[in-house]
Amino acid sequence: MKVLFIGDIVGSLGVDMVKEWLPKLKEQYKPQATIVNGENAAGGRGITEKIYKELLQAGVDLVTMGNHTWDQKEIFDFIDNEKKLIRPANYPNNNVTPGKGLAYININQLKLAVINLHGRSFMGDFEDPFRVGQELVDEARMVTPHIFIDFHAEATSEKEAMGWFMDGKVSAVVGTHTHVQTNDSRILPQGTAYQTDVGMTGFYDGILGMKKDPILQKFQTQMPNRFEVPETGRKRLNGCYIDIDNTTGKAKTIKNIRIDDDMPFFN
Ligand SMILES: [Fe+2]
Ligand SMILES: [Fe+2]
Repeated sequence: MKVLFIGDIVGSLGVDMVKEWLPKLKEQYKPQATIVNGENAAGGRGITEKIYKELLQAGVDLVTMGNHTWDQKEIFDFIDNEKKLIRPANYPNNNVTPGKGLAYININQLKLAVINLHGRSFMGDFEDPFRVGQELVDEARMVTPHIFIDFHAEATSEKEAMGWFMDGKVSAVVGTHTHVQTNDSRILPQGTAYQTDVGMTGFYDGILGMKKDPILQKFQTQMPNRFEVPETGRKRLNGCYIDIDNTTGKAKTIKNIRIDDDMPFFN
């Protein structure tokens, strides 16, 4: 089973990058499932129904979210009806939180379970992602051995810990949220593909997909400032490709993908 994952889509440039490059990536890697993190797709803050549908139209099978899930209030109107949109599973009092943190993608006779978890280090009072993750993996494993986790977290240590915790239990643990791709993709000893952060998709002459000057000013003055996501400029797509054994659910390959629109390359 071949899976493509694209990291945090930031604003319209990120959405454009997916529309432009997903067909070419599909030709190159022939993924049977394409997952994207869409938490910043609406101008850097959350996702709208229109953008969600555009991503599906562009060939995406499932959208995961993160700390920006609720930034666009309209998400409350559609998240419960959408089967291809998940948010972190470990909200405290998760039962009353709209949406779900686990969904399945059907691939011929196989199924890929996708779980979205939120980190806690430097990120707020979430339920223990290890405990909640284990519960969801137990649930998913009744259905399929093919399980992908998007772990949306800040601390590299918490992400590596999750990778080791899930080694042998799931096909892949891939991090999102920091927007900077890490060069540490590997297969852990028990067969789980791991990458600390897949990186973001959007404007890349800035800071984490946003205009650099307001952020520089904030660092230098410690005064509040409005961060802006540009709508023109050079853009980058960050992602990874994972090949999973059809029978065992163990990962065989994980590769970083990085495409700069002015200097594209596949590695
Ligand atoms: Fe993000
Ligand atoms: Fe985030």
